[in-house]
Amino acid sequence: MTYETIKVETRGGVGLVTLDRPKALNALNSTLMAELLEALQAFDRDAKIGAVVITGSAKAFAAGADIKEMQALDFVDAYMRDFIGGWNDVSTVRKPMIAAVAGYALGGGCELAMMCDFIIAADTARFGQPEITLGTIPGMGGTQRLTRAVGKAKAMDLCLTGRMMDAEEAERAGLVARIVPANELIETAIKAAETIAGFSQPSVRMAKESVDRAFELTLAEGILFERRLFHSLFATEDQKEGMTAFSEKRKAQFKNR
Ligand code: HXC
Repeated sequence: MTYETIKVETRGGVGLVTLDRPKALNALNSTLMAELLEALQAFDRDAKIGAVVITGSAKAFAAGADIKEMQALDFVDAYMRDFIGGWNDVSTVRKPMIAAVAGYALGGGCELAMMCDFIIAADTARFGQPEITLGTIPGMGGTQRLTRAVGKAKAMDLCLTGRMMDAEEAERAGLVARIVPANELIETAIKAAETIAGFSQPSVRMAKESVDRAFELTLAEGILFERRLFHSLFATEDQKEGMTAFSEKRKAQFKNR
C-alpha cells in the first residue's frame, strides 16, 4: 500500500508510521488522518505486528491540524459532518502505540501524540496547545488528555497562553515517558516497541486495557477490573511458559496463546 502523506514500514514485529508532509510541518489534514487510521487499523489486524511507532520529522512530529483546511469551515459544516470526530479512532487501536516525537508537537500534533500509549521525546521536542492563538481551542482531546497527563495548573497554562514546553518540562510534568538525544529517537522507540512485541500478546493487550481503564473507573472498580484480567491470564499457556522459564533460568518462548 502506498500513501501520499505517510510512510509505512515494518521492522520485525513493529509497525512504523512516519508522518510525511514536510512542507506543512506534518500538519494533520483529512488525507493524512484517513491514511494514518487506515495504516494503524491494518497493523491492528496483522498478527505479525505487536506494537506500533508513530513518528514525524526532525523538525516536527506535527505542527497541528491543518489550519489552511480549517480556515473556511463554518459551524454548520463542522457540526453536521462531525469534523475530526473520526480522528479519535486513533485511540481505539488495541495494540500499543508509541509516539516518537522530535521538534514541534503542537495542537492536533500534541493531541495525536497523547492518543498514543506513551511518548518518547527527543531533546528537541516542543509541546503545546496553541489553538487559543487562532481563536479556537483544542478539539482532539487536548483539554482532556493533557489535563489528565500533567494536571490542571500546567494544562490551563498551556491551553490559555498557547506557550510551548520543551522536552524536559514535558517529562517533569508527566507528559513524556523518556527523553533521548534526537539522533537516538527512532532507534530507542523501535527498541521499546520490539520489547513489547516480544512479550505474550494477550498480556500486553490486557496491560494496556487495564491502564486505560484507570482514566474511566473509580479506584475500587479499576482494581477489580485489573484483578479479573490478572486472574484470566492464568488460563494462558504463556503464563505457564513465562513462570516456568523464570524458574528454569531461561528466556520464555511465548506463543501468544
Ligand atoms: C497548516 C502549517 C501548520 C499548520 C505549519 N504550517 N503549521 N500549515 N497548518 N498547523 C506550514 C506553514 O504555513 C508553512 O507553510 C510551513 O508549514 C512551515 O512553517 P513556518 O511557520 O514557516 O515554520 P517556522 O517559522 O519554523 O514555525 C514553525 C511553527 C509555526 C512555530 C510550528 O509553523 C506554527 O506556529 N504553526 C502553527 C502551529 C499551530 O497553531 N498549531 C495548532 C493548529 S490548530 P508555507 O506554505 O508558508 O511555507 C489545531 C487544532 C487541533 O491543531 C484540534 C482539531 C483538530
